[in-house]
Amino acid sequence: MFTTISNFSDHVGSEVTIQGWMFNKRGSGKIYFLQLRDGSGITQGVVEASSVDPETLAKAEKLTAESSLRVSGQVTKHPKLPDTYELHVKGIEIVHLNEEEYPIAKKDHGIDFLLDHRHLWLRSSKQWAIQRIRNTIINATYEYLNDNGFIKIDAPILTPNACEGTTELFEINYFDEGKAYLSQSGQLYIEAAIYSVGRCFDFGPVFRAEKSKTRRHLTEFWMMDAEAAFVEHEENIRIQEALVTHIVKCVLEKNMPELRILERNIEPLKKIGPPFIRKTHEEVVKELRTMGSDIQENHDLGGDDETLLTQKYDKPIFVEKYPAEVKAFYMKHDPSNPKRVLCADLLAPEGYGEIIGGSQREDNYDVLLQRINEHKLPVDAFRWYLDLRKYGSVPHSGFGYGLERLVTWICGQEHIRTSIPFPRTIYRLTP
Ligand code: 4AD
Ligand code: MG
Repeated sequence: MFTTISNFSDHVGSEVTIQGWMFNKRGSGKIYFLQLRDGSGITQGVVEASSVDPETLAKAEKLTAESSLRVSGQVTKHPKLPDTYELHVKGIEIVHLNEEEYPIAKKDHGIDFLLDHRHLWLRSSKQWAIQRIRNTIINATYEYLNDNGFIKIDAPILTPNACEGTTELFEINYFDEGKAYLSQSGQLYIEAAIYSVGRCFDFGPVFRAEKSKTRRHLTEFWMMDAEAAFVEHEENIRIQEALVTHIVKCVLEKNMPELRILERNIEPLKKIGPPFIRKTHEEVVKELRTMGSDIQENHDLGGDDETLLTQKYDKPIFVEKYPAEVKAFYMKHDPSNPKRVLCADLLAPEGYGEIIGGSQREDNYDVLLQRINEHKLPVDAFRWYLDLRKYGSVPHSGFGYGLERLVTWICGQEHIRTSIPFPRTIYRLTP
């Protein structure tokens, strides 16, 4: 009977067959320990000379790293480790025996070598674990948003102009229409859609062409933008807290084996729950300056500032009400201080930094037009966006998370490049 390693707990004592790959092997002659994986999990297959025929033993001997195979045997509980099972092998069918040595087996390779072999590196247990957690984060996001009345609306990727204004765009030739640009965020489009469906979100790849060389930046990454009519700054923050809490809870429920493989300390993750820490930009600047940063009152937080600040805390931090001049044109000004906007960036703790950017949006036609002009943006390109403030305008807010930023933090990784199956950075386009 075929089963998967993830289902071993249902088959203790019975005979099963799994299909997958052998990633490592120990032993010789009388006994072999095969490290097996099938996509759903990893297990150890024990091949004992005394309980298999000589042909099966010879196959075990012959098996090379990352060869594919079907293995049958009896599932047993590991004598010492909890929730761990082994397979007492009875038979082996080799599906494909690798003749050449597997390029990334064992040895300590440098990061460039590993990234050049990303197509193979994805099979290794840490990379497997990260992709499984990424999958849980995606599903938890859909689950939370669907349960809270948000409809999925797909924003276009080919766009005629910038959304974020400040960041640089990838440009392509678009037939007789001139230039098109790869989207930086679907926000403006889902803002249009709230007037149809009330609350909505998009989730897809977005593109940033700045030449950032940090451990937090990709040129192609996945963003989830959420937007809601009649939601103001306070409620916007509540929604983000609840979403992030739900995501972390789902990962802790579903991915303990993966977190163990990644050696992630789960204590900080267990503490994630509302309310998160909240500070104004003004307070944060003061705090950072006492910690040695040279940040100015009207500056955006740099990557180092984010690291410095969030290393101090084990809960996510909302930094709200930035100076208007460092934020995008569409953010609504704070009625109690027109130099500031009703925005909040959510920073992940433990030194990780920004995972979400969000704000209440300007909903007044004249004010928005003025902002567009102040930011020296092409008014014509924003006519349709201005229309939204002309017909049934409502207070509304939204936010966007960077999926890979969340994955990097939750998986406790040093660098964002392993959080996506095939990373794109200024230096990397292959594989
Ligand atoms: O803060 P950002 O630029 O905000 C927006 O694009 C808004 N339109 C979102 C909205 O309000 N709907 O980007 C949102 C998030 C950041 O907080 C960060 O997590 C991630 O996207 N991000 C990146 N992730 C990886 N590589 C990059 N180069 C990123 N730039 C932003
Ligand atoms: Mg941002």
